[in-house]
Amino acid sequence: MHILHVVGARPNFMKAAPVLRALAGRGARQTLVHTGQHYDRNMSDVFFTQLAIPEPDFNLGVGSGSHAQQTAQVMTAFEPVVLETKPDVVLVYGDVNSTMAATLVCSKLLVRIGHVEAGLRSFDRTMPEEINRMVTDRLADLLFTPSEDGDFNLANEGVPPEKIHFVGNVMIDSLVQLLPAAMKVSRNGLPERYALVTLHRPSNVDDSESLQSILASLLEVSERMPIVFPAHPRTRQRIADFGINVEKLHLVEPAPYIEFLALQRGATVVITDSGGIQEETTYLGVPCLTLRSNTERPVTVTMGTNILVGQDRKKLSSELMKIYEGKGKTGTIPPLWDGYTGERIADILLSL
Ligand code: UD1
Repeated sequence: MHILHVVGARPNFMKAAPVLRALAGRGARQTLVHTGQHYDRNMSDVFFTQLAIPEPDFNLGVGSGSHAQQTAQVMTAFEPVVLETKPDVVLVYGDVNSTMAATLVCSKLLVRIGHVEAGLRSFDRTMPEEINRMVTDRLADLLFTPSEDGDFNLANEGVPPEKIHFVGNVMIDSLVQLLPAAMKVSRNGLPERYALVTLHRPSNVDDSESLQSILASLLEVSERMPIVFPAHPRTRQRIADFGINVEKLHLVEPAPYIEFLALQRGATVVITDSGGIQEETTYLGVPCLTLRSNTERPVTVTMGTNILVGQDRKKLSSELMKIYEGKGKTGTIPPLWDGYTGERIADILLSL
């Protein structure tokens, strides 16, 4: 069995690492393709090093562009790789443009596709990732879901049950593996209590008014509690484009995986619009305030520590106050978020 993995953007790396490792442990033949969607050292290389991901066999070097350009470039560059390497199964991860582009290529070449993190739905089609999720799940042959809501959504869309495999959250495998390393990261220079902030959703940062309003709320937060804000390149770019003064928010560079885990673990609260961070904070039991009005990861709200605050400043402020007073939301860890998801996926693949 020859398995080809496609990764492209930062949130793919911590999902692919455990599956690559589990399959390597079983002696499977594997090929790794990096599309190059993310290319900065601190958005890509450093994750390969910390997660011990092998050097990619192919780097398609697609880089940035509009959605259509990025998708088309991945497709054009990826097709010859599939034709040359002839994999039995192609594994795609999450919901980024590289995921959907690779899926489209494989479905037309009649190569079997496995989607890791299948079934998640925000039911918000203005979100580019929602389109990527829907298309990928529609075309994939094996759907590996992280939570039972994923099974439910897929069944509702008419996916036959034999295609759906509830395996748990693979990203938590990486977290469990590297948490001991994160616990050794020095807290030097960090205040006793702080809010960790990340922000990069197009709906929040690409519009000048909403970005200004969110940054103004964060400024209010920072008057109560110091903020640590590793800024995504997209956000930094938009702040510069719109000429917003963020001196008081002390932006820092995107953090490597282990250092970011340490920052999450030590935070009083995490304020974010990321998908994965809603899950990591739920696992770590750290209160999370999500700057979105919906989530494709509802289990983090129903079981975990996540609260959706959207762009509602009053709600952000009142929830923050509760957390500050030690009355923040507590939660439990969802089923099969146990560090063994990669192993389960490998077993299913090798039993085909
Ligand atoms: C992508 C994913 C998003 C994921 C995020 C994590 C899609 C549709 N979106 O969004 O789901 O949450 O990655 O980071 O696939 N840039 C750099 N260096 C890089 C990468 C990007 O400077 O290494 C800048 C470029 O200006 C680029 C912009 O960031 O145009 C956006 O990058 P892109 O890959 O298009 O989308 P993300 O916002 O990163």
